[in-house]
Amino acid sequence: MKDIFILAIETSCDETSAAVVKNGREVLSNIISSQIEIHQRFGGVVPEIASRNHTMAIVNVIDQALKQADIVLDDIDAVAVTYGAGLVGALLVGVSAAKALSYMLNKPLIAVNHIRAHIAANYLESDLEPPFLGAVVSGGHTELVDIKDYTHYEILGSTLDDAAGEAFDKVARVLGLGYPGGPKIDKLAKEGKHSIEFFKTAKMISDEYAFSYSGLKTAVVNYIHNAKQRGEEINIPDICASFTYYALEPIVQKAFDAAKKLGYQNIALAGGVAANSYLRQRFEEMGTKHGIKVYIPKLEYCTDNAAMVASMGYYNYINNVGISDLTLNAVPSL
Ligand code: KG4
Ligand code: ZN
Repeated sequence: MKDIFILAIETSCDETSAAVVKNGREVLSNIISSQIEIHQRFGGVVPEIASRNHTMAIVNVIDQALKQADIVLDDIDAVAVTYGAGLVGALLVGVSAAKALSYMLNKPLIAVNHIRAHIAANYLESDLEPPFLGAVVSGGHTELVDIKDYTHYEILGSTLDDAAGEAFDKVARVLGLGYPGGPKIDKLAKEGKHSIEFFKTAKMISDEYAFSYSGLKTAVVNYIHNAKQRGEEINIPDICASFTYYALEPIVQKAFDAAKKLGYQNIALAGGVAANSYLRQRFEEMGTKHGIKVYIPKLEYCTDNAAMVASMGYYNYINNVGISDLTLNAVPSL
């Protein structure tokens, strides 16, 4: 069979990224221009600023992706792009660039769902094939997904309020750790113990595969507030370790319950919070314990990147899914 090269673009939030991937699995390039430093001073992503910076970076990022892959535009088979979910202005920069390329090259334009792309990150440089249980843990989503095949999914359960990554970012802000909070809490948690039972008040909700973070977040805020009022020192590493434990352990337990119930031999972790060292370690431990193979993307493929979009784009392309015309629009709440 002829090799298929996908050029992909990702601009849903604060990373401008372009990648070239061969046959959905082999990453030839994955250029990521992060805006984290730009947004840090505001304590979070400012949508208008994100769009402007995507506009400035996009052409260079695509150029670099082609150069590093040592490929010319004519050798690309299709152009894939994230069209949702995400910030509308940010998404539109990528969608417009992809449309222009598709029109100029007369090659198919493939619309990719950002969350599905996060799951597809597990196909990069790996042998994973559906069916499997997907655990998506990102800044915007927390869900368990039954991945029936490359393009058919069923959501088993999701968060009833905040997403896990969002909770990490909010707790970090309350602790004065800055944006993005996930990696900072991760680092500090390693120096602490999950000893703060008070956070258990926001215990696991009973609903089989659902999650909730607003109660836990409030418990952390109240704990800090009460300690301050009593003039007590707070132990930030212990807060980070305890929050991490109560935030992520339900995901570990419920993901393995779901995989066992479905009779699946494989579990794949996806999304920005899949970069968390506690979560990665617990999935590995549970995989060994239950004889289930665990797939976790390399760190570079956990947070937003275009290689994962190219992989999902490839499977859409060969299955004739998501092939779009030039009327493609951004869908922020996809
Ligand atoms: O998947 P992603 O890039 O964005 C969405 O598509 O939503 O995930 C970003 C989220 C942020 O909330 C960030 O704090 C979190 O992933 N994150 C982490 C870690 N690295 C990134 N959370 C916990 N531990 C980490 N090491
Ligand atoms: Zn993402």
